Amino acid sequence: MNAAVALRKAALATSKSGSFVTIAKRTKVTLPDLDWDYHALEPHISGQINEIHHQKHHQTYATGLNTAIDQFSELSVKVGSDANAARQLHALQQNIKFHSGGFQNHCLFWKNLAPTSQGGGEPPTGALATQINSQYGSLDKLVGLTNNKLAGIQGSGWVFLVKNSENGQLDVVQTANQDTVTGNLIPLLAIDAWEHAYYLQYQNKKVDYFKAIWNVINWKEAARRFEAAK
Ligand SMILES: [Fe+2]
Repeated sequence: MNAAVALRKAALATSKSGSFVTIAKRTKVTLPDLDWDYHALEPHISGQINEIHHQKHHQTYATGLNTAIDQFSELSVKVGSDANAARQLHALQQNIKFHSGGFQNHCLFWKNLAPTSQGGGEPPTGALATQINSQYGSLDKLVGLTNNKLAGIQGSGWVFLVKNSENGQLDVVQTANQDTVTGNLIPLLAIDAWEHAYYLQYQNKKVDYFKAIWNVINWKEAARRFEAAK
């Protein structure tokens, strides 16, 4: 019995005892806890930014994704009988894309940051360091290339350091809005270039934010993702 069938059977069985809501809630995303206190990334990223970013912005994507999935579920069961359902499903796709990207991107973002007291900013070692040197010549060159891509974002977006699981190569990928990387592109680092990520501290000097964030990049997490992406 696969996991989906098992979950459905469990849900049906539980619904008879009146606890279906408990099971159904497990299909919702929830805001993840952070591994560090909001102020732990100072002076590079302020506690106020982290608190609002996590509790307000990330929470909005989690709530938006859950709402969109609920709407999808409601529409999908009546698509054969309601002529308008197909149109509504079509319109809903953008909401699902936006909020699922926003939710996932921020989950990656928090994990790939760490206070300097917990190794933030310490250069990568092992296979990831070898690959960076092989492709880019040095970590500094990769950072420079990434910062250029961050600065080149018009409006809101993200830059990802990825590993292509097909050929093992690294790449630096820019996306707009809350678009994320999928398929063979496995994210190692996700860097948020939305104004909400820096404006309270850096105002219009977003380039200073892009420089500062490397002081709290969790390269151990990136190296773990690199080695796990087979
Ligand atoms: Fe953000």
